Amino acid sequence: MMTATMKPVSRVLRLGCVLAFCFQVLAPYGLPRAWGLDNGLAMTPTMGWLHWERFMCNVNCQEEPDSCISEKLFLQIAEIMASDGWKDVGYEYICIDDCWMAPERDSKGRLQADPKRFPGGIHRLADYVHSKGLKLGIYADVGNKTCAGFPGSFGYYDIDAQTFADWGVDLLKFDGCYCDSIQHLAEGYKQMSLALNRTGRSIVYSCEWPLYVWPIFKPNYTEIREYCNHWRNFADIYDSWESIRKTLDWTSSNQKIIVPVAGPGGWNDPDMLVIGNFGLSRDQQITQMALWAIMAAPLLMSNDLRHISPEAKALLQDKDVIAINQDRLGKQGYWLRKEDNFEMWERPLLNLAWAVAIVNLQEIGGPRSYTISVTSLGRGLACNPNCLITELLPEKRKLGIYEWTSTLKTQINPTGTVLLRLETTSSAQFSHSVVSDFL
Ligand code: GLA
Repeated sequence: MMTATMKPVSRVLRLGCVLAFCFQVLAPYGLPRAWGLDNGLAMTPTMGWLHWERFMCNVNCQEEPDSCISEKLFLQIAEIMASDGWKDVGYEYICIDDCWMAPERDSKGRLQADPKRFPGGIHRLADYVHSKGLKLGIYADVGNKTCAGFPGSFGYYDIDAQTFADWGVDLLKFDGCYCDSIQHLAEGYKQMSLALNRTGRSIVYSCEWPLYVWPIFKPNYTEIREYCNHWRNFADIYDSWESIRKTLDWTSSNQKIIVPVAGPGGWNDPDMLVIGNFGLSRDQQITQMALWAIMAAPLLMSNDLRHISPEAKALLQDKDVIAINQDRLGKQGYWLRKEDNFEMWERPLLNLAWAVAIVNLQEIGGPRSYTISVTSLGRGLACNPNCLITELLPEKRKLGIYEWTSTLKTQINPTGTVLLRLETTSSAQFSHSVVSDFL
């Protein structure tokens, strides 16, 4: 603490101290990092809606007019995103996945939307989405075909990038099916990134590059980060607890490789939020929301916003949890330890705050209690000398001030999570405010 009797330090000395302090505090989290794709986008993880997990490749609009992949679906979801509070909390991109295309390119070699299902075309859909203050995402594939068998972009990267820009598209999800070699895959992902850039339009570039490289060798994440705004690493998400578990297990097993590369402009993408669908219990939905916040994951919901329970809506729109996901320090959290079938994760936040998630992995019995010694949190810094702890999930309540040597008792439902926010009570206001300027 700076007292009234202390002499003000010179600017140079102050800067030196700050940098030394920054280095001390931040070095363990993997700084310095490589700078990412320089398109100025995705400075925090992308938020929006993506059709795949919930609506898949349903092209049967005769039998299922409300759930087939058609402009009607996107117009309705856009309308709701703007009117039901989704846009207000940050969900901005409404994204089309596979199966929007006509089976053939047009006479000039351009992709075209299926004329029956998208009679107004993508340009008009983008105009409508923009009129609602939202952004439009679209899907294509680096290889010869999309995963569902529609025309691929191989050999057409410039034409396709320009077509998307002409239509007013704001995000491209670029899949990696039907690519004949790992060289073509890497070159294709890079070429499309450059082609998007050349259009001059701001288009978030969402890749699946590492997912297709992992079976062959360890991906070069420094390179991937230079070309993509986010990247899928692991298998497609399903509407099940098993799928959420596997995604978390993969992430913790590979965190040494993937956590240091995440940061403003480039994020690991553990795939869509499936909250509000059929397969997850209330507690499991809480776990997904909490852990996607810890992982600094893009928050792309795949659900039916026209029919969603008030509980799922409140969870997805929880501003405090979203604030953790979108934290401007931009550091992905990590798995800390597992003990007695409880798993702990933590994430450093701006202003020396921390988010902590404790998951009860036991799938038998009822709520179990777990006592945390706060000394162990935030690399020993979070509650030193004390901190204010707030529970964000499953309930929102201030738990109070905790001394460095104290313990915190929690009760967690099977497959549920307690998400906490820890703020230092600031014995070092001076350092905090000065350090914040440099983060
Ligand atoms: C792959 C992707 C999915 C989805 C489908 C579409 O499986 O990983 O996210 O885009 O293709 O066919």
